Amino acid sequence: MNLSKHKVLVTGGGSGIGLEIAREFVTRGNQVAICGRDSKKLKLAQSSIGAQAAIRCDLAEPYAIPKLVADTSRSLGGLSILVNNAGIQYNYNLLEKNPNEVFLDAAEEIQVNFTSLVALTAACIPALSENPQAAVVNISSGLAIAPKASAPVYCATKAAVHSFSRSLRYQCEDSMPHLRVFEVFPPLVETDMTKGRGDGKISPGDVAAEVFRGLSNDRYEIRVGKVKYLDFINRIFPTLAAKLVKES
Ligand SMILES: NC(=O)c1ccc[n+]([C@@H]2O[C@H](COP(=O)([O-])OP(=O)(O)OC[C@H]3O[C@@H](n4cnc5c(N)ncnc54)[C@H](OP(=O)(O)O)[C@@H]3O)[C@@H](O)[C@H]2O)c1
Repeated sequence: MNLSKHKVLVTGGGSGIGLEIAREFVTRGNQVAICGRDSKKLKLAQSSIGAQAAIRCDLAEPYAIPKLVADTSRSLGGLSILVNNAGIQYNYNLLEKNPNEVFLDAAEEIQVNFTSLVALTAACIPALSENPQAAVVNISSGLAIAPKASAPVYCATKAAVHSFSRSLRYQCEDSMPHLRVFEVFPPLVETDMTKGRGDGKISPGDVAAEVFRGLSNDRYEIRVGKVKYLDFINRIFPTLAAKLVKES
């Protein structure tokens, strides 16, 4: 698809992968709004990349989405690309954690990583449908293909994003073909989310570059870096793929 002159909302665009995707959209001549919880971080990010708007929004809050949609519309005067990037990850052993804490952490992870992605997408459909070329870009993870042991709910939310992205794509193919649905599967990336853990991380800028190659070629499932090999192994030797990711 054509990647300039769009009106773009990037959730979690104040840091990490979202910031680099937002930066690339600005560089290519798009109007961009970023959102997140931390106003200070957002303002810094906005001025560093020249984004049109920085909108404070906590996607874990029940009434955040209608306000985010209204603020975006006010700032950009419409919307043609939604990047669902905001996410959180909690690492814990379900067998050792207090069940009440499990409930609270799981509810937050599911809300931020999945429920809000679904609800925001639905709330943006009217604006997206007004454009001859529009897109929803969902950031899932290589962990949607095979889960690791240490983040049971996070991995489940990413598998849910994968399934949801496919179903939404099928619905758009039938009823709204000008709305393209993309899914991005990053490997381990050097961001706040992965601070202090993991080896062989790639930079968020490398992820953004691969995302833009995928978007411009209408590659609806964009596997980044090592995830290309993981997906290949998983198709032929699923047990090996599961073993490779389990303790990662
Ligand atoms: N890093 C990796 O290895 C990796 C690998 C695969 C997939 N991913 C996915 O990539 C996406 C971006 O993550 P990242 O690695 O770039 O981490 P990050 O730097 O921590 O970015 C996450 C962003 O989400 C925002 N966010 C978190 N909770 C939010 C909430 N309740 N409401 C609104 N915004 C919220 C954060 O902004 P505030 O703090 O201002 O709220 C932050 O800007 C996530 O979906 C993640 O699951 C990451």
